[in-house]
Amino acid sequence: MGTILIVDDDPQLRQSFAKLLQEEGHSVLTASHGEAALDQVRQTPPELVIMDIRMPGMSGLEAFTAMHALEPKLPVVIMTAFGTTETAIEATKLGAYDYILKPFEIPHILAIINQALEAGRIMRSKVEMNQPPETVQGEALIGCSRPMQEVYKAIGRVAPTDATVLLRGESGTGKELVARALYQHSLRSHKPFLVINCVAIPETLLESELFGFEKGAFTGAINRRVGKIEQAHGGTVFLDEIGDMPFSIQAKILRLLQEKSIERLGGRDPIPVDVRIVAATNRDLEKALEEGRFREDLYYRLKVVTIWLPTLAERTGDIPALADYFLARFSREMGLTNPGMTPEAKKILENYHWPGNIRELANTIQKALIFSRGYLIRPEDVSQVIGGDDARSMSDKDAMECLHQWVRQGLLTASDENAFDSFMDRFAAVVVSEALDLTGGNRTQAAKLLGLSRPTLQAKIDRYRLRVETSVKTNGD
Ligand SMILES: Nc1ncnc2c1ncn2[C@@H]1O[C@H](COP(=O)(O)OP(=O)(O)OP(=O)(O)O)[C@@H](O)[C@H]1O
Ligand SMILES: [Mg+2]
Repeated sequence: MGTILIVDDDPQLRQSFAKLLQEEGHSVLTASHGEAALDQVRQTPPELVIMDIRMPGMSGLEAFTAMHALEPKLPVVIMTAFGTTETAIEATKLGAYDYILKPFEIPHILAIINQALEAGRIMRSKVEMNQPPETVQGEALIGCSRPMQEVYKAIGRVAPTDATVLLRGESGTGKELVARALYQHSLRSHKPFLVINCVAIPETLLESELFGFEKGAFTGAINRRVGKIEQAHGGTVFLDEIGDMPFSIQAKILRLLQEKSIERLGGRDPIPVDVRIVAATNRDLEKALEEGRFREDLYYRLKVVTIWLPTLAERTGDIPALADYFLARFSREMGLTNPGMTPEAKKILENYHWPGNIRELANTIQKALIFSRGYLIRPEDVSQVIGGDDARSMSDKDAMECLHQWVRQGLLTASDENAFDSFMDRFAAVVVSEALDLTGGNRTQAAKLLGLSRPTLQAKIDRYRLRVETSVKTNGD
């Protein structure tokens, strides 16, 4: 959800685009030409700009260049029709987030919009360090245990240098948060910060995502594409999960670190780029070296400046402060005014071993807040989330067995031509109705639990004709 500025001279396009985005829960501003868009950005910058490249008066490229100079961290997505693609590509070379081709494919644009909003949010939202939880408004690295003090010191030492930094630690220990803190305390904090997750992108696409390609580099390369590293020129690139990066790409990263240049796929000349690399992994890189999955030269080049993040089990003293922080943060997000947790509930948190580290603690508190429906979090709300009574809950295996049986019986007796869709609908209806049930019919919280926007949840409620009963829970005392 964010404020999006649509810039296009075609009123019909502005209107239909605005409607689409509003239905997704975004706030929309519109401008009919480049100058108006610039004025808007000067007054109150939106969170994302979607701009046509061909407009009367100031061209989209001129407007983009001025906008980028004004707000280098504001993501801009360029709209282009066949024939103006070259200019749109030029804009991505200058730092535009991406471009979309008219006519639009809606799921594709919505995906790009969400990525761009997230990229902007990550650049803008500040990560505070070493502050007492009650004073923190946004995101922060919480904890004053000795291992965390070491982390803060390391960040302070290396952030203002251009050194490549490797962040290591188990899953959920805060590597991404530290990467952002490094960026925000660096000399490049006013320039872009782009995140590339090396496992989330399929191997075949990762190389072109990072380095881009020339027209005709392979079948399907009908236009040139500028890679993320080139787009981030002057800024910082965070290579997340680098331990999972394919071997062939590792060599190119090493070259980037040594020679400060890249080559687009199918390109002949090296392109100089000035980016700082921060990398992270939860993998056992030494084992990967032995098994020949990670290049030794890159390993030694990366490990020069390493920051190790402690597990939560190594700093259990930080659990109460972390719990207070997440309680305040999620209550604020959910619009709850009086968050709280009984001392017994807190004790459970302190005694648990947290294999999923801080991410697991954060998720636990968020869900416990949902289950406690705005009242004081009680021990049962917490244990319901962290496993609790194993005997009562059905194992995944048993549950899957039931599900298989249900589907099999249904298929044997199905007379419906659209058996697949009708199964999916019934299953989705169960998921939505359980989420509503668990949250006492609170749509905002149910949407949160499901990871859906509120309008999307509402559409599903309407579609499956679910009855939502709002219950008021007493606090048991
Ligand atoms: N010290 C901390 N204080 C407050 N919140 C934290 C801290 N460390 C991590 N978090 C929060 O915990 C969650 C997980 O952190 P993050 O994504 O940075 O972990 P990670 O080390 O990158 O994990 P993975 O290896 O699985 O990617 C995030 O929501 C982050 O905001
Ligand atoms: Mg991570």
